[in-house]
Amino acid sequence: MERIVVYNSKTGFSEKYGKWIAQELACKAVSYKDMTPQHWKENDVIIYGAGIMAGRINGWDKVKKIPERCGKKLIVYAVGGAPMKADEVILTVKDNNLTKEEQKEIPFFYLEGGIDFEKMGFFPRTMLKTMYKMLKKKKDKTQEDMGMLRLFERSSDNSSKENIKPLIICAEQI
Ligand SMILES: Cc1cc2nc3c(=O)[nH]c(=O)nc-3n(C[C@H](O)[C@H](O)[C@H](O)COP(=O)(O)O)c2cc1C
Repeated sequence: MERIVVYNSKTGFSEKYGKWIAQELACKAVSYKDMTPQHWKENDVIIYGAGIMAGRINGWDKVKKIPERCGKKLIVYAVGGAPMKADEVILTVKDNNLTKEEQKEIPFFYLEGGIDFEKMGFFPRTMLKTMYKMLKKKKDKTQEDMGMLRLFERSSDNSSKENIKPLIICAEQI
């Protein structure tokens, strides 16, 4: 089984996880923008990982439509700011991005990343500020809302190599 990790990372967190995963599986990690049709064709297992923005996994809809990925086994990891234990938030991300049918076929993993304001472009920074203001105004904030508010206040890095263990076990069983 030939495997490849494809990361689509705006501020480096999905890239860091992609490289850790590739190291453990002894395979290549390639940035999504550098993927060639050949890369898609010559691998049987494609592990795609990207950051979450307002509940959506960056680039995931495009990956699903790439013709060369048909017949390949896909694994997806979504990297976000929410803590590893934010079960409800993580479940929502899964349901927002994968149909019930896809969830049966495509293993999904959530990995906690962080926030890097320095590497963030103008558009995501503005979007984050808007999300922050909306959350701040929201009445009856949940524990998760409070967590997100704290998270969006300053840069942080909560990534950990430990988090990739379940994904590695899954990939090795394919
Ligand atoms: C505009 C914006 C929206 C975001 N929305 C979410 C979100 O809905 N859920 C979440 O867990 N993290 C959210 N984040 C945090 C990112 O997913 C997090 O910074 C992630 O580590 C980025 O990964 P990357 O550097 O590989 O792109 C958001 C960040 C930005 C800039």
